Amino acid sequence: MQNCRIDFPLLQRTYKNTPLAFFDGPGGTQTPRQVITAISDYYKQSNANTHGHFITSKETDKVIARARDRMAIFLNASSPDCISFGANMTTLNYFLSKALVRIFKAGDEVVITELDHEANRAPWLAMQNNGIVIREVKLKRDGALDYEDFKSKITVKTKLVAMGMASNALGTVNDFRAVRKWTNEIGAYLLLDAVHYAPHFTIDVQDIDVDFLLCSAYKFYGPHVGILYSKYGLLDKLPTDCLRTQDQNAPYKIETGTLNHAALAGVTAAIDYIASVSSGADLRSQLVESMKLISDHEHQLADKLYSGLQDIKRIKIFGLPLIKDEHTPTIAFLMEGIKAADVCKYLAEQAICTWDGHYYAIRAIEVLRLSELGGLTRVGMSLYNTEDEVNRLLSALKDLSSSL
Ligand SMILES: Cc1ncc(COP(=O)(O)O)c(C=O)c1O
Repeated sequence: MQNCRIDFPLLQRTYKNTPLAFFDGPGGTQTPRQVITAISDYYKQSNANTHGHFITSKETDKVIARARDRMAIFLNASSPDCISFGANMTTLNYFLSKALVRIFKAGDEVVITELDHEANRAPWLAMQNNGIVIREVKLKRDGALDYEDFKSKITVKTKLVAMGMASNALGTVNDFRAVRKWTNEIGAYLLLDAVHYAPHFTIDVQDIDVDFLLCSAYKFYGPHVGILYSKYGLLDKLPTDCLRTQDQNAPYKIETGTLNHAALAGVTAAIDYIASVSSGADLRSQLVESMKLISDHEHQLADKLYSGLQDIKRIKIFGLPLIKDEHTPTIAFLMEGIKAADVCKYLAEQAICTWDGHYYAIRAIEVLRLSELGGLTRVGMSLYNTEDEVNRLLSALKDLSSSL
């Protein structure tokens, strides 16, 4: 994995003569030059709007089609028609909720969780204005969802369960397969927020049998593009907001206006970049193998960090034990006697980039009663992180703790 560092121009950047260490992957990963080149090449060679009869416009159509193809392979969707693009996950989720509220009736129920990012809560909570009942699954203090509570909240009136695959705040991987079984029993839709899961694990939408799944390319080495997967044929049935001049079919009918064509060229390049980490008979098997290698590397570093943190006085780690498949390589902690923001400011001066606060998973931070303390410090591993960087981080935290 070390060889890949050369591909990321920003990893060369220094602060106060020290190389910057980026542990802010859960907020957004760095971008390899292959992605940057694809984006700039689009502007240099093919910049145009779609569906024209001239060469650059035809090339633009191909850029979009290729990005849909690649995303379909990345998620193992049955067709590129299952893949819609948008500005970001939040916007696509709002668009989807606006369409779904038109087919739900007053008294219908939607289940969300206390652990989710606000982007997968607010669009559904807004449905209350239309008489939809929102039920919230409880978050336990250990960082896991309360599955007894979950099961009890799914009733014959449930039309949709909207949940995260993994928490961007605590790294918890949720049991979305159990929830799929429960939702299938009553014929409710399952929507998964895969934004924090997609950079760390392989996704197979057909195997999960999910109805809707959303992710964001900027979390997996790509540009700022949101992606919505809808099960084949499902989006066609939904009354989305859509101009009469727009294609009224999936996957286009939720894509309002002109897409970011250059960024879509970057999405293709990001997926090809992930695939290039390994080799395989075809792109899908290559991606599966690459994700396994990336995941192994990230978890090795996360394990090192986790055990190092346990040896530092005043540090309290939040969330479940760091078991692969049950936890992303994202660790959140509190240092007793100092606010998370001050920990991050101290680390920033050592050229170490980490996040503090609630990271928009604000409900989880409230439930854990961490708001007054300024939330948690969050450290996330990405494919380009190294053992040296983890050592630097641990040593900086040790110094900070001893200085208090
Ligand atoms: C778990 C999770 N869901 C949703 C989002 C929102 O994604 P976007 O920025 O693409 O709207 C984020 C962003 O950090 C996230 O981490």
